[in-house]
Amino acid sequence: MKDDYTMKRFLKGVGGGPVFFKKNALFLLDQRKIPREEKYIRVKTAKETAAAIRKMVVRGAPAIGVAAAYGMALGRGNITLAADVLLKSRPTAVNLKWAVDRMLAINTDNFGKLLKEAEKIEKENKVLCEKISKNGAKLIKKNSVVMTHCNAGALATGGTGTALGVLYAAKKKIKLVIVKETRPRLQGANLTTYELKKWKMPYILISDTASAFAMKKYNVSAIIVGADRIASNGDTANKIGTYALAIEARYHRIPFYVAAPYSTIDFGIKSGKKIVIEERNQDEVLKINGKPIAVAGTKAFNPAFDVTPAKLISAIITERGFIKNPDRKKMEQLYG
Ligand code: MRU
Repeated sequence: MKDDYTMKRFLKGVGGGPVFFKKNALFLLDQRKIPREEKYIRVKTAKETAAAIRKMVVRGAPAIGVAAAYGMALGRGNITLAADVLLKSRPTAVNLKWAVDRMLAINTDNFGKLLKEAEKIEKENKVLCEKISKNGAKLIKKNSVVMTHCNAGALATGGTGTALGVLYAAKKKIKLVIVKETRPRLQGANLTTYELKKWKMPYILISDTASAFAMKKYNVSAIIVGADRIASNGDTANKIGTYALAIEARYHRIPFYVAAPYSTIDFGIKSGKKIVIEERNQDEVLKINGKPIAVAGTKAFNPAFDVTPAKLISAIITERGFIKNPDRKKMEQLYG
């Protein structure tokens, strides 16, 4: 499919975007190819949708949720089987389970009805992003230098984004965005720079190892990231490296913000200890562009996410507002 994706087109709500449904098929922008190419893959079954999620054609917790909802509609009349295969694709982002459960609750195998619900989820997602962005923008001060990790923008959500959505909404107040490259899969370098350029935002890229020094050197005003699963006490799973970033932020007395929709909050778990952390193939660490970077026989540990304790988080921003210094009581007050 030829370039149906531009941020402008997408944000006007006239098509494009990382996930969309057209003519009985799901179209996923292949995020493994960004920024080099804007190519879509066409997915026609739940099994193919699950494979695309696993291979990270589509990634980012909310976008995974939307893709999974469409994947359920593509379940060829067997939603139980579709749910089973989709739930096995990636374990950490709770949005996936949330979307699958919501589709199951429709309690039908009828394609038309399932498609309608998936479209509803997609639309809601866009609205949630806008609300989160607006709420979060209130926390951004004039002339801010803001650091971010991974990609929590349009590509990750199918809306304007969560963490990046906040920055787009606060654009006039942003002096500079510092983007961490996000090893091993480079979502920061590949995807966040791509989005920020489209938004004409001022940004620079740093290696992950430069974050503490960059905080000092650039006098960073705030750090903002997305989330894959937030436990009921506020502990937050997000891209590997987030936890270290929060520790560095605390040392430098920089506010550390998490932006996410309600579908990312898992009230079924009491703390981050219960969050299943996906471990991916060792080759993601051992190779760069397919070439080994360590001596043969080296083993690697490759967790895709880590958990940041709530006490290191200055505020969790949601569509309902923000919770400063989050804990269970405040989380329940906002959502109870
Ligand atoms: O492995 P990924 O690229 O799916 O990880 C994405 C993240 O960690 C994002 O920060 C998170 O999903 C929030 S996206 C709005």
